[in-house]
Amino acid sequence: MRIFVTGTAGFIGYHLAQLLLAEGHEVQGFDGMTDYYDVALKRRRHAMLLQHQNFHATEAMLEDREALDRAMDDFAPDVVVHLAAQAGVRYSLENPRAYLDANIIGSFNVMEAARRLAVGHLLMASTSSVYGANEAMPYGETDKADTQMSFYAATKKATEAMSHAYAHLHALPTTMFRFFTVYGPWGRPDMAPSKFTQSILAGRAIDVYNHGQMWRDFTYIDDLVHGIRLLIDAVPGGVETAVAGDSLSPVAPWRVVNIGNSEKVMLEDFITAIEAATGRKASRNYLSMQPGDVPATWADASLLRALTGYTPKTTVPEGVARFVEWYRSYHGV
Ligand SMILES: NC(=O)c1ccc[n+]([C@@H]2O[C@H](COP(=O)([O-])OP(=O)(O)OC[C@H]3O[C@@H](n4cnc5c(N)ncnc54)[C@H](O)[C@@H]3O)[C@@H](O)[C@H]2O)c1
Repeated sequence: MRIFVTGTAGFIGYHLAQLLLAEGHEVQGFDGMTDYYDVALKRRRHAMLLQHQNFHATEAMLEDREALDRAMDDFAPDVVVHLAAQAGVRYSLENPRAYLDANIIGSFNVMEAARRLAVGHLLMASTSSVYGANEAMPYGETDKADTQMSFYAATKKATEAMSHAYAHLHALPTTMFRFFTVYGPWGRPDMAPSKFTQSILAGRAIDVYNHGQMWRDFTYIDDLVHGIRLLIDAVPGGVETAVAGDSLSPVAPWRVVNIGNSEKVMLEDFITAIEAATGRKASRNYLSMQPGDVPATWADASLLRALTGYTPKTTVPEGVARFVEWYRSYHGV
């Protein structure tokens, strides 16, 4: 297959591209190398991908419509996986416009090009944050999700709505993923696993929000990209193709799918796993809840299983050990 992937210098895009290349697919990457976090890490990821002869990349912003159109037209993809975005809940309080530009305008440009080229399947990243203030857990794709708590989550929910309209109007088969706290080697420096590991290894205290009353459905990166890979082949069709518990639209070849571990892990247990992997004890700074954040996320991943037969299975101690091993060798600490 010819697969166009946005965000290939990013954490998830890098791992997905590696998996697709290992299977022998042609991958065209697209990334603007934004400076939201260390650009050197992004360049290292891209440099490794560029060692494959089936990988080519364009360095440009999604908002640069001409550059995006040219890259997509020249490549003529069968499938588009759109992962590039301004991510992060906390930074969306500081710089909401970056989210509007990348996630709304940028995603619109990707959808427009995908429609024009009549690609076979468009897959785009949303987030568990769209479940917002929902209290019923685990979160299911058919639950109402109308109470976003951060502007980041709001832009992702808007992308889900925009893509549904495009799928309906243009018969464009579309899958939206809702990812749950992804971690692993080559992970993002702005996320808790990296920040905790960095501080613990440096002997500094870690900031633990909501006084430790936090739960996350931590998803190991290899499991996540395996789920994405299988969903590429699960092209949404008409209502007659719906499976049990499906979120398939009654009026469009469109569905939303959670990719999570289906396990609610207390932040303290995640920290304990980092302590075990580093062999150091963490000293904790207990703080109140951060605005925009939610105390818990937990995925019902039964739709992913019904569509693909797959369930993520890496446990937190296993995944954290692999992450810490990578972190130490990458940073030489
Ligand atoms: N990592 C997680 O836990 C998580 C959870 C839920 C959802 N997501 C979503 O998954 C996707 C991938 O996340 P990630 O963790 O790999 O993030 P990431 O920040 O590592 O990767 C995103 C990439 O997109 C690029 N990018 C950002 N804005 C751009 C723009 N306007 N034009 C071109 N390129 C741009 C960045 O340079 C970066 O390399 C995102 O859509 C994110 O919102 C991630």
